[in-house]
Amino acid sequence: MTSLRTNTAALEPEIRRIGRQIFERAEAAGPSVFSIEYWQQAAMNQLTRDEGLKLRLFRFVEVLPSLQSNEAVARHLIEYLGGDDDDPYDPPEPLHLAVAFDKPDSMYASLVAGAAKFGCGIGAKQFIAGDTPQQAIRSVKRLRRNGNTFTLDVLGETIIADRIARQHQQLYIELINQVSRDARSWPDITTIDHAPFGAIPKVNISIKLSAIVVSFDPINPKGTSDAVLERLRPVLRAARDAGAFVNVDMEHYAVKNLTLDIFKRVLTEPEFRDWPNCGIVIQCYMPEGDRDLADLVAWARRRGTPISVRLVKGAYWDSETAMAVRNGWQSPLYKEKWESDAAYERVGRVILENCDIIRPAFASHNVRTIAAMLAMENAMGLPQRTLELQMLTGMGEPLRRALTQMKQRVRVYAPFGDMMTGMAYLIRRLIENTANESFLRQSFGGGTPTDQLLRKPGPSQRPTRSPIPQPFLQDPEGESPMEPFQSEPEINFADGAVRDAMNAALHHVRDHFGERHAPIIGNEPADAAEWRPSRNPSDPGEVVGHFANCDVKTVDRAVAAAKRAADAWADQSGEARAEVLDRAADALHAARHELMALTIFETGKTWREAAGDYLETIDYFRFYAHEWRRLTHRNRHRDWPGEVNEYFYAPRGVVAVIGPFCFPMSLIGGMTAAALVTGNSVVMKPAQHSSISAARLCRILIDAGLPPGVLNFVTGAGDVVGDALVKHAEVDMIAFTGSSRVGASIIESARTRDADRRGFTHILAEMGGKNAIIIDDDADIDEAVQATIASAFGYSGQKCTACSRAIVLADIYDAYLEKLKEAAGGITPRSAEDPAAGVGPLIDDTAVASYQAFIEKAKRSGRLILPGGLIDSNSSGHFVRPAIVADVAPDSDIAQQEIMAPILSVLRADNFEHAVKIANNSPYGLVGGIYSRSP
Ligand code: FAD
Ligand code: 2OP
Repeated sequence: MTSLRTNTAALEPEIRRIGRQIFERAEAAGPSVFSIEYWQQAAMNQLTRDEGLKLRLFRFVEVLPSLQSNEAVARHLIEYLGGDDDDPYDPPEPLHLAVAFDKPDSMYASLVAGAAKFGCGIGAKQFIAGDTPQQAIRSVKRLRRNGNTFTLDVLGETIIADRIARQHQQLYIELINQVSRDARSWPDITTIDHAPFGAIPKVNISIKLSAIVVSFDPINPKGTSDAVLERLRPVLRAARDAGAFVNVDMEHYAVKNLTLDIFKRVLTEPEFRDWPNCGIVIQCYMPEGDRDLADLVAWARRRGTPISVRLVKGAYWDSETAMAVRNGWQSPLYKEKWESDAAYERVGRVILENCDIIRPAFASHNVRTIAAMLAMENAMGLPQRTLELQMLTGMGEPLRRALTQMKQRVRVYAPFGDMMTGMAYLIRRLIENTANESFLRQSFGGGTPTDQLLRKPGPSQRPTRSPIPQPFLQDPEGESPMEPFQSEPEINFADGAVRDAMNAALHHVRDHFGERHAPIIGNEPADAAEWRPSRNPSDPGEVVGHFANCDVKTVDRAVAAAKRAADAWADQSGEARAEVLDRAADALHAARHELMALTIFETGKTWREAAGDYLETIDYFRFYAHEWRRLTHRNRHRDWPGEVNEYFYAPRGVVAVIGPFCFPMSLIGGMTAAALVTGNSVVMKPAQHSSISAARLCRILIDAGLPPGVLNFVTGAGDVVGDALVKHAEVDMIAFTGSSRVGASIIESARTRDADRRGFTHILAEMGGKNAIIIDDDADIDEAVQATIASAFGYSGQKCTACSRAIVLADIYDAYLEKLKEAAGGITPRSAEDPAAGVGPLIDDTAVASYQAFIEKAKRSGRLILPGGLIDSNSSGHFVRPAIVADVAPDSDIAQQEIMAPILSVLRADNFEHAVKIANNSPYGLVGGIYSRSP
């Protein structure tokens, strides 16, 4: 271990000296005005000065490779860059002509499309080393001729099918073998092939673990690690046998710890334990960077063989920050740019101090950062080129040339692949290159004085970025913004503590299996003559709990209790009622893991589906409390002298709330919370399959301070208990969510019920869906496929909001279908309690029978490209595979009837208008989606 005895402050003059030297050389090595590089940078600077235009431009770049015709390119260019009535904006000078048309004619379209593709192609080439391995190899050889070494990366991340992940892994292995064979004839170059600690492998690759498996998911660390290791070991073996080097890239924060664990695990295996030619990335744009490195150093010392560490600030600042805002999480990253810069120097110093076991690779395009590392190397008495400098293809080329002239060991990260698979990478580079905070943007041509650029990172610098705006709500008329409402933060299953809490809750709930959950009348448990089991659909032998099969008399008693409590409850202040919901929401939050565990066992929700249901429940509670505070006041206004008009909301009385199992807590909870906060008393009747979950929910609401009788709970058969409630003379309103068949019968029976009843029962019925997703011809197919699968097959298609029809434009129909089939074919339903389950079971035998009947219908209605079928498993769980039927006619049964099972119809549309027409050709109207990149 080498310690930096020099006071870091005393290093400042040296850092500045080195920094100035780099700048001087870089300026001398900068692109001349006669080079493409110069004009490229100038155009980029001009086009990205305005943040709005930058966003439009990057979105256009993102969609461009997927556009099939010149007309489509021209139309999108006009849509993105031309502005419109809602969003008037003046395109910059160079784009005026290109967007001057409303409707492109074919001559114009081919000119514009050619220019756009040419421009974007040049832009992409700046950052990407080639489309094919051959081109990539040619460009890395060119790099070596210019005195730099390389790391090769195969573009692609977030893989949707296992075949592609396997292809990726194979490509890496072939690449290692092929380049290593070629490298045997490469002449040795001292500056790049040798370090003070010895020879360095000439061949070096960088790999993203998310690219070699189909699901790189921290919810299931053990399963994910096993799958990754199975793919990673052959890559490492190939590299070790060929004498090549492998660096593991670091991706999003959610997978950081998992990536570090996998890296440590594989390198501790006997096979790789003494292998030094492997490295990993430490990101220091987050406070955890210091600890990550310290842990890695300690581990490397225990292992006893050196590894390399590439130190970076981090490539995902924008997306992590946006995701944290969206999920309601604290961002794990620093907020101020200088904090990342300072962390880099701090962590970099620790790396240098431990360079006997951690071989340092400093990746940055920031002259201050690089100069600081070089100054530290020198001050510690380490020989030159102990540290390696790394840069990305196309970023800071003059800087690279300057450092090469200074005889530094410079490695260039050279990614290859087509523009489509490399789009995420390309967009990161465009954002990075044009961010106001970017050192590159501020320095070369950016006009910031050198002394300022070389200043020690510290808080004196101006705050670097305006915070990302919080989403806000608009009232339904769109007139005024509403009081800010905070949704419950997403459940973060990447967090080990959350996963531990879930596992503990699953144990806890299982310990209480088989208990009885009595009806509740007047806040007290009521007797029952008969009990029914609620079974675990993943393993129906397990009885989650017993619920009462209530009789009509119990229903009468519940309604009577509600009736007695109604007036006093209505007389309470709106605020007092809202407070009950707030307290109940707090209790929900405290019990969240247990509630999710309960719905996992009782209704076969996977972990993420259970989280979704919990989040929606708590949001309903809080939102209704929040909104009721806004609506509850009496509105008075004077219209004529002597006359005062007033309006206010009044409760209806007793509300029967009848809910389905598909969202076991949120739908029944939402309807109940709305009825309660507005001053009604309630009799709640859940679906039989979710009776235990609903009982728990009821208890939480009552314990939050509901007076006796305000909320009553009855369970049992729909045709007895439900029917009695629906026909009850003292029920003033029915709030129902469920199937159209039952909903229609409720409406019918309420209409025709006893004549002795005063007035009509108000009915709020939210019934089924035949939901459609339209996939436009410019959609990102991978994204659309993933979304369709999540919507159609998540919770085995049993949600009323599930996608049941994918309506796809003809131009991309075949491509979409192929990917959809492949990705959905990889789904294997399994026990919902297993965090690895993407899909769980169907709810019961009847659902399985209905699924099978629809599969038979599907065979007659189209091309069954994914046949579905039952799954044999160790348990007797109701597991079925997703089915996809293509070429379905819009009027066929399968495209018209509601199916509560994982069966998706795919329909072809001639154009967008036709797609909308097909979507609307349904008696249902619940939810829908569109995947399109047309503004
Ligand atoms: P600078 O302009 O000095 O810093 C820009 C960086 O500062 C941003 O990228 C961001 O990290 C950070 N930042 C920006 N705004 C803020 C803010 N408001 N608050 C806090 N921090 C902010 N990154 C990875 O995540 N994983 C990798 O595997 C990876 N590999 C790389 C390989 C190479 C060869 C190189 C050169 C970089 C790699 N990076 C990686 C880093 C990343 O891609 C960026 O290039 C790098 O973060 C830019 O830092 P800089 O020092 O060059 O530029
Ligand atoms: C990225 O892919 C270079 O790993 C870094 O953005």
